[in-house]
Amino acid sequence: MLIAQISDLHIQKGGKPAYGVVDTVSMLKRAVEALNALDPQPDVVLATGDLVERGSAEEYGILREILKPLKAPLLVVPGNHDARGTLAEAFPDSGKRVGASEFFHYAVDEFPVRLIGYDTTVPKHHHGEVCAARADWLDRTLAAGGDRPTVIFLHHPPFKTGIGHMDRSGLTNVPAMAAVVKKHPNVERIVCGHIHRAIQTRFAGTIASVAPSTAHQINLDLRQDGPAAMKMDPPGYQLHYWTPEAGLVTHTAAIGDYGEPFNFPW
Ligand SMILES: [Fe+2]
Ligand SMILES: [Fe+2]
Repeated sequence: MLIAQISDLHIQKGGKPAYGVVDTVSMLKRAVEALNALDPQPDVVLATGDLVERGSAEEYGILREILKPLKAPLLVVPGNHDARGTLAEAFPDSGKRVGASEFFHYAVDEFPVRLIGYDTTVPKHHHGEVCAARADWLDRTLAAGGDRPTVIFLHHPPFKTGIGHMDRSGLTNVPAMAAVVKKHPNVERIVCGHIHRAIQTRFAGTIASVAPSTAHQINLDLRQDGPAAMKMDPPGYQLHYWTPEAGLVTHTAAIGDYGEPFNFPW
């Protein structure tokens, strides 16, 4: 099974450049082209939040148009820039899966790897939260899947990255999530967004990771008092490749024209 992950698309109303600088629309179009050119094709594409900038229906309309040519099926979760209700209406393939809770949570059982979309957002706030109700939902949902290999995809990573200004708007009540995940050793990976960089760490007996943005990246600055800054490092996406023998192996790919592959000289 091949799972592609895109994150932090940050599409703006009117297709305007985000922050007056980043042409997120053109950059997402290039990401869609890159994904469509993959051989083999991904079985599914996960989009881990901050799909648009302000959560409006107009922005989601623009987003849907850009994503229309995508060949692989798409599953989304909200980020802090999204509005979960408007998102669910715009993406019924993900939205219709949302259970009868106030959150945008769902499980997908039709692939060899079970996928759990998990909503960490707090409306109108940058940080994320795992409240008691969400920790309980995750525990029940993981238990219902038995011991099948499982990937949880969400926006806010459950770990400190060392980038001070982002960590200060990170996930709260992480121990509640860690306690649940520790009970379920079949969780192969927790894949996230929000930090706009490829990052990974050990977490609660599994691996937690962040995918780069399809647009702008967060400046790699590990000073705790460093300014909140973005940078036009190469955009990218991740491919999580699963086989029963090797488990889940993650590749980070850059989006852009870096020339044609050339063969080894022997
Ligand atoms: Fe973001
Ligand atoms: Fe975010």
